Amino acid sequence: MNIDSHCHLLPAVDDGVEEIEESLAILEEMKLKGLQRLYLTPHLFSPISPSDPAEIMRRWHEFRFELNNHSVEVLLGSEIFLRPEVLESDLITMGESNFLLVELSTQQKPHYLFEVIGKLQSTGFRIILAHLERYHYLFKKVGLIFGKVEPTDEIHRLRDMGVLFQVNWNSLDKDSKARVLVDRRIADITGSDKHKQGDNRLLIDFDDDRYRLFLNDSFL
Ligand SMILES: [Fe+2]
Repeated sequence: MNIDSHCHLLPAVDDGVEEIEESLAILEEMKLKGLQRLYLTPHLFSPISPSDPAEIMRRWHEFRFELNNHSVEVLLGSEIFLRPEVLESDLITMGESNFLLVELSTQQKPHYLFEVIGKLQSTGFRIILAHLERYHYLFKKVGLIFGKVEPTDEIHRLRDMGVLFQVNWNSLDKDSKARVLVDRRIADITGSDKHKQGDNRLLIDFDDDRYRLFLNDSFL
């Protein structure tokens, strides 16, 4: 099945789409590229894009039928900014699954990274780390070749914990960190992370052979 795991198309809840008309226009474009299932993943607990869980649920109930009227299955998830408070909060999983899509600070490694992920797992959640290629502190430069990077041991430690890794489709062409994750078969899942029309984020082309490198279908 052709699945996009990550987008901000639930209207007026975060820094994504504002109007349902724009959501539907992007959904139509995604459908033309072969999309069959889409997870809406509005930000939760993000310091950069604040949101209100009650408002997310209200908008979801307002738009879920309209969004699901286009022969694409549209499900609600969220993109949870990892912080210790999430352990005491109601979290929105990916559809009916026990998967959580989790993002990290892009600035510095959270000192509680392994602890909070471990605690979420021990309460029964499975973790997908969103756009792993953005966390420069989880990669190390190799040799003198510009842009050549390797995943650090911390990525392998997360993987050993059972964490799955999502890479943005848009990063495949231009980000050496994304490329090394795909080449080493470390990346598990891809998503568009589409926010708005004209945001320069490519939609997943499901006819592109690179989509077959991902396991979206096995997990989501
Ligand atoms: Fe996102």
